[in-house]
Amino acid sequence: MSLFAKKPLHLLLEQANDAEKSLKRTLGASALVSLGIGAIIGAGLFVRTAAAAGGHAGSAVTISFIIAAVGCAFAGLCYAEFASMIPIAGSAYTYAYTTMGEVVAWIIGWALVLEYALGAATVSIAWSEYLNNLFGGGIPYEWCHSPFESAMDASGVLHTGILNFPALIILVLLTALLIKGTQESAAVNLIIVIIKVSIVLLFIAIGWQFINPMNHTPYFIPADAPPAILPDGKEYSYAPSFNHGWLGVLRGASIVFFAFIGFDAVSTAAQEAKNPKRDMPIGILGSLVVCTVLYILFSHVLTGVAPYSEFMQSGREASVAYAIDHHMHGYSWLATAVTVAILAGFSSVILVMLMGQSRVFYSMANDGLLPKVFSDVHPKFRTPYKANMILFVFVGAFAAFVPGSVAGDLTSFGTLLAFVLVSAGVWIMRRSNPNLVRPFRTPAVGFVSIMGVLICGAMIASIDPQTLTIAMIWMVLGLVIYFGFSRKYSKLRAYADILPTADDFEAKKND
Ligand code: ALA
Repeated sequence: MSLFAKKPLHLLLEQANDAEKSLKRTLGASALVSLGIGAIIGAGLFVRTAAAAGGHAGSAVTISFIIAAVGCAFAGLCYAEFASMIPIAGSAYTYAYTTMGEVVAWIIGWALVLEYALGAATVSIAWSEYLNNLFGGGIPYEWCHSPFESAMDASGVLHTGILNFPALIILVLLTALLIKGTQESAAVNLIIVIIKVSIVLLFIAIGWQFINPMNHTPYFIPADAPPAILPDGKEYSYAPSFNHGWLGVLRGASIVFFAFIGFDAVSTAAQEAKNPKRDMPIGILGSLVVCTVLYILFSHVLTGVAPYSEFMQSGREASVAYAIDHHMHGYSWLATAVTVAILAGFSSVILVMLMGQSRVFYSMANDGLLPKVFSDVHPKFRTPYKANMILFVFVGAFAAFVPGSVAGDLTSFGTLLAFVLVSAGVWIMRRSNPNLVRPFRTPAVGFVSIMGVLICGAMIASIDPQTLTIAMIWMVLGLVIYFGFSRKYSKLRAYADILPTADDFEAKKND
């Protein structure tokens, strides 16, 4: 059987209806939008905005957000068509299985591990930063940083991280919550979303009065900007081409792109949606629009309040609390409120990421591409609890020992790759199966699909080369596993000859 064997769509839909295997359908449209916002607003906004502004884009990080949003909107329209058509857990992985075949599906599934698992790790690292800020920097540097990070303290002593302990704690707590069940998790998520959006609005409204127009001039970082001094005492130069000007803005887009990751996580919950055909597009696009508007306003205020170069120095960690504490005098209460809200907000992001990842594993294991342990559903809670536990070990290892910036860039890579493939996939599917029922149709599909591929592709190309190399090694490792294990155990291959055809299903329905 060919590498590009496709999973028949009717088989997928039949699987979704199979009550034994199905997850509980408990989520409505508003729960999905809230799930989306829960996944979207997080470390991307509260940590990576400052990193992108400080190192690459300056005040023009607002333009980075616009570029990233446009790429997401094109990919999002493609996601929405698939999500309404194939309302099954597994997201881009599942879509690819029916459109582009098994090996492409595997590649996407493997890339999604970068998105969800490393995304969860990145946000848990950011959670640790803000927790440390809440304790006034009282957690010893060694125990809240990876071994690859160091910083000089006030007396000039250099500290190097050992492991990120707070990041591990939050991951344990949320894994336990997830195992207990999605419905409960969605309720907690809704409360957190309300807190998170309120705090973003508050920061925009209050911070607006503290904008210093000098900080927005020049809007782009000039090539000859004086170097910034990093926490470990080294100099950071703005001369390289991706550290200033328009290319800096593009690199900034690939960094803040992280802030949009998650709207597609809505699609991983398709099997738990009450009315997936109507609600999936609303969930995906609705959450994307709300967040884009908030991000542009937020980054305009943040870079107006503090000069961008400070985000490479003392404002590098917990940057929003830093900007309030140092530049918005009289509002230290806001810094504390923001920090507490951010801690809660990050938790909801990690929750959705972990949930997304376990659902992708669930689908891959159901297809035989991963060991069965990933698809075992808890007899009482009906959640893929073993997948959740194994995932904790994997995500925990990254959270404890890898710097947030590396995990964050790898997350962006994995997601962007999935976006490129989904954007292409929707067009391929229109051509190969033009007559399928599509409750939501991507408008101007040719244009949207090409733009999705081009803009997301450009963001991939602007990721720092070292991270791209690690990402490539990850993808090659994935192919080795596919050819060594998954291909042999693929159910699609094993049962290819005896799989029921679409006609068999029709006949069964009519019986
Ligand atoms: N979009 C999510 C965040 O910014 C992943 O934390």
